[in-house]
Amino acid sequence: MSLNIARRRRPAAGYAAIAGGLVVVGTLYAGLSGGSAASASAPSQASTAVAHGKSLFETSCSSCHGLDAQGTSQAPSLVGAGAAAVDFQMSTGRMPAKEYGAENERKPTHFTQQQIYDIAAYVASLGGGPAIPDAQQVSTKGADTALGQQLFSTNCAQCHGFAGAGGALTYGKSAPSLNVATPRQIYEAMLTGPEAMPVFGDGTITPSEKRDIIALITQTRDEANPGGLSAGRTGPVTEGLVIWLGGLGFLVLIAMWLTAKRKDHAKAEPEQQS
Ligand code: HEC
Ligand code: HEC
Repeated sequence: MSLNIARRRRPAAGYAAIAGGLVVVGTLYAGLSGGSAASASAPSQASTAVAHGKSLFETSCSSCHGLDAQGTSQAPSLVGAGAAAVDFQMSTGRMPAKEYGAENERKPTHFTQQQIYDIAAYVASLGGGPAIPDAQQVSTKGADTALGQQLFSTNCAQCHGFAGAGGALTYGKSAPSLNVATPRQIYEAMLTGPEAMPVFGDGTITPSEKRDIIALITQTRDEANPGGLSAGRTGPVTEGLVIWLGGLGFLVLIAMWLTAKRKDHAKAEPEQQS
């Protein structure tokens, strides 16, 4: 709790700089990876990609997921998980997991996007699962952010907070902030439902609605306000601050009341003694 407060109250300028940097990097990255996605899926390269992906998988993933991705007591089978799950898990640095049982958090990945595509191609070759969405599928051009807001409130806010800042889940886990995920990662998260997150298949949230949600999330982020949240927006951070300040005020009142009482006593005592 105190750790959270300390983190939340970091100077706003630092946040703005970090957020700005991430947006720039994210945009460049999305552009670059969009390009190589096309080449990676070119048929002539497909079989080499799978072979290359398999050997990478054996080195980096098979210790937990099994030599043929069939799953072990350490990790689930990836047969049918699909390319989108691999791209999401690896591009956000969640996989390869560091140790069994640890909560998988976003961290920098040591793999190139091409290596991730190759492993994804291998896992996809085992059959089933959603493909990696292409640039057009995640494009927010002409998206309806008002509908996105509605969909977000109904489907996402209970875990990620109304402003997408993340929040604690009841069972001791937490849902991350949505401030850094790229449009493709947001789409993939919905398609694959990592960990405690449910899968939002195209039957539940249509591809066009997914774009509306992505537009909302990325637009909320672009409205440059320090810390990713404006004071007027309600969300866990603002709420937390209000509760914290309210609590502080309450303590001050109690302290004042106690002091006043003690003064009363001090005044009262001499009278009683006399
Ligand atoms: C230290 C063990 C470990 C290693 C190494 C590891 N994983 Fe995992 N992986 C797990 C566990 C445990 C889960 C299930 C928990 C979760 O979903 O967060 C998981 C889940 C996944 C999922 C989600 C499955 C789904 O159905 O959505 C994917 C995809 C995945 N791993 C891919 C990989 C890839 C690719 C690598 C290698 C680059 C890798 N993992 C390395 C332990 C590991
Ligand atoms: C039941 C709670 C829950 C709901 C509902 C939920 N999520 Fe999640 N979400 C999670 C959890 C938990 C994780 C982290 C999973 C992990 O680390 O493996 C997550 C991860 C994510 C991530 C990855 C963030 C990152 O930067 O790595 C995105 C993006 C995301 N969710 C988007 C959404 C969207 C969009 C919706 C609504 C359509 C949604 N989530 C609904 C619990 C939820």
